[in-house]
Amino acid sequence: MKIAVFSTQPYDRKFLRQANTTFNHELDFFEARLEIKTAVIAAGFPIVCVFVNDDVSAQVIKTLAQNGTKMIALRCAGFNNVDLDAAKANNITVARVPRYSPYAVAEYTVGMFLSLDRKIHRAWDRVREDNFNLNGLVGRDLHGKTVGVIGTGHIGSLVAKAFSGFGCNVIAHDAVPNSELQKIGIPYHGRDEVLRNSDVLCLHTPLTPETKHLINAQTIKTLKDGVVIVNTGRGALIDTAALIPALENGKVRGAALDVYENEVNLFFKDMSEKIVRDPVFQRLITFPNVLVTGHQAYFTEEALHSICHTTLNNVAQFRDGKVDPSVLV
Ligand code: NAI
Repeated sequence: MKIAVFSTQPYDRKFLRQANTTFNHELDFFEARLEIKTAVIAAGFPIVCVFVNDDVSAQVIKTLAQNGTKMIALRCAGFNNVDLDAAKANNITVARVPRYSPYAVAEYTVGMFLSLDRKIHRAWDRVREDNFNLNGLVGRDLHGKTVGVIGTGHIGSLVAKAFSGFGCNVIAHDAVPNSELQKIGIPYHGRDEVLRNSDVLCLHTPLTPETKHLINAQTIKTLKDGVVIVNTGRGALIDTAALIPALENGKVRGAALDVYENEVNLFFKDMSEKIVRDPVFQRLITFPNVLVTGHQAYFTEEALHSICHTTLNNVAQFRDGKVDPSVLV
């Protein structure tokens, strides 16, 4: 099938080409993000392949449909950037990669927390300057801390198990509790109780109207003093502007963020020669108790291989008229 592949970096092209040796689709790579002004590029492509920050809003979908697109193949699990009603109304099938490597994201979540709380990233900066002084680098034992996991699906359940392995007291909240976690003694509580009692809070729900700004000015007041927040889910789970005063006054001890609500203008690009016009983000990255990375929790060889293989397989199934219902959104 002829596929217009948006938002591609060299690593995407490499892994997609490798996976495509099995499928032989016709891949046309575009570095551009799919948005209103680029949607016309996809004219004549029955399949459009996009990533997390592409704009798949109603207006874009309408343009795609007018130009012959029949399927949108997401190279990701989350689909908060897609207007599903518009896709349905325009008879466009939307498929995703529901599960690739939850290990990639879960392992990164724990790694980010450890780096932040034990100040590993700051120590490395010092060592590179031959500064071996430990002042200001004191961390805390993780053992015995209460870790709250909000959203215990594929990723959150692995995070819960990993923190249990460190001897933490893991507590969880999910709309649908995970019986495997319950069997190993991880208790489920209401969301407010998890927010109130966690020393470390990890966010792993999808971004939906219910979870948007789950961490906001009001809920921050209810958090345990000195909580560390780790967000490798979606940026808009946190109202970042509300987080900043809490980081300043110590209510929140630290934040490890792989995602940011306005990342669409920043992430996956080299902005080092440009002026970043985002005062909230600029303020955020001045804090010594904040660690930000550019949406890379998923970024392992295994995950990329799996994402590319499943995406191209979804397209092949669409061509053959038998898409696995578990990948449809
Ligand atoms: P999943 O679908 O397996 O798990 C999500 C869990 O959240 C489910 O158990 C669901 O019941 C729960 N949930 C949904 N709405 C809820 C609500 N309102 N309250 C409480 N619980 C709720 O998804 P998975 O694979 O664990 O991924 C989680 C999220 O991680 C994705 O939606 C995506 O946004 C993000 N993600 C981030 C990546 C990164 O590189 N930073 C990579 C992959 C995913």
